[in-house]
Amino acid sequence: MDQANVDVHQRQDDAPPAVTLRPLGLADADDFMAWASDDRVIRFLKRPLCATREQAVAQIRDTVLGHPWFRAICVAGRPVGQVSVWPYADEGGHRANLGYALARDLWGRGIAAAAISMVVTRVFDELPGLERLEAVTDVENVRPQRVLEKAGFKREGVLRRYIVRRGGEVSDAVIYSFLASESP
Ligand SMILES: CC(C)(COP(=O)(O)OP(=O)(O)OC[C@H]1O[C@@H](n2cnc3c(N)ncnc32)[C@H](O)[C@@H]1OP(=O)(O)O)[C@@H](O)C(=O)NCCC(=O)NCCS
Repeated sequence: MDQANVDVHQRQDDAPPAVTLRPLGLADADDFMAWASDDRVIRFLKRPLCATREQAVAQIRDTVLGHPWFRAICVAGRPVGQVSVWPYADEGGHRANLGYALARDLWGRGIAAAAISMVVTRVFDELPGLERLEAVTDVENVRPQRVLEKAGFKREGVLRRYIVRRGGEVSDAVIYSFLASESP
């Protein structure tokens, strides 16, 4: 195992590692596979599972490179997850959706909360006109709800029968928001 790998995969009870954000490119396809090919990570997400490296390259090319705001979450300089902000076209850019995912073996160390806390300090400057960042989670997907609360998002309520899961089942969702006026 190389040094970067040792740093990324340190013990779960260590202090939270330093997190950085940067654009994700085609050269990151192997690292991207760590979470994009894992059904435990993407089962609550809309994007399809990448079963092969070729599919990972295609997904980066088709959905990441032209994305208005997509960042790799990095630990020790290596991508271990993703966070994205997608402005709703029909709202003139004042409202956007937050998405995020992290490689399974790094859950529970505060990495996602640290990444999202960084997002809210910069995305309102980087996307002019953005006033409201919102996140919608399946009501049973509790971990990301806790992450949003730790990053300062406000829980606004339950959207009943709102989400269609991968298997076709319809479920309730919880909606959170963070306003530009709340940005540190
Ligand atoms: C959501 C995700 C990015 C969180 O990453 P993470 O690095 O584990 O998150 P953090 O360590 O910052 O925080 C997790 C929090 O959830 C808490 N948690 C975990 N399981 C929980 C449960 N069943 N009930 C309540 N809280 C729970 C943890 O205790 C922790 O809170 P704490 O620090 O106050 O103890 C990761 O789980 C993931 O990739 N999930 C799949 C993709 C996904 O669902 N994305 C969100 C779509 S809206």
